[in-house]
Amino acid sequence: MAVEDISGVYRLGYQLFHNLELTTLYRTWDAHEVTVNFDQDPKLSLVAEAKNGRIVGFALGKTYENETGSWKYGHILWMGVSPKYQRAGVGAELHQEMERRMRQQGVRMSFVDMAQSNAAARNFFRSVGYGRPESEVWMSKMIRRARKKKDTEAHPRLGLPGRRHRMRRPPLA
Ligand SMILES: CC(C)(COP(=O)(O)OP(=O)(O)OC[C@H]1O[C@@H](n2cnc3c(N)ncnc32)[C@H](O)[C@@H]1OP(=O)(O)O)[C@@H](O)C(=O)NCCC(=O)NCCS
Repeated sequence: MAVEDISGVYRLGYQLFHNLELTTLYRTWDAHEVTVNFDQDPKLSLVAEAKNGRIVGFALGKTYENETGSWKYGHILWMGVSPKYQRAGVGAELHQEMERRMRQQGVRMSFVDMAQSNAAARNFFRSVGYGRPESEVWMSKMIRRARKKKDTEAHPRLGLPGRRHRMRRPPLA
């Protein structure tokens, strides 16, 4: 990948992941993902080009080391192939190159994550040798906007409780 590929990769990713996000919502794709990866791991930021130079696929990866530095792990963060070019071996080629580069960097195990519902990706990664899937559960919650409080705070000077917290007067007998 080269600097001038950043916008092409972002656009292709947007086309591929935007719809997935609506159903999975566990990760978001934005330009930052591409620029940060390219900046930090340029050798693991790959593109596949058609003969006319158009970007038709990409793969973004990174590496981690364990605390003692004795094991290095690879992580494929994002990978995508333009729908028109899918099932033609582009993904497999990108993956092969990613693995070759990771091996060169001393990676001993690589991993990838995807939504359970993404059957194409699951089949793809199985076909290139990934296994032992571990289930993870993503939960979501809508965070509502805080309601405006109406005179419910304690009186700042008199130390009186706010209206909501005042004791109710007992009913008259
Ligand atoms: C996953 C993805 C990158 C695969 O790319 P691809 O170029 O189509 O993959 P390949 O042509 O190299 O496929 C290799 C093998 O993977 C499996 N495979 C790939 N796509 C598949 C699909 N849609 N359904 C079933 N198996 C599939 C097949 O075994 C295939 O071999 P075959 O075509 O000889 O049967 C592509 O489907 C894609 O971009 N998906 C949307 C983005 C995404 O989900 N990315 C992964 C998570 S970040």
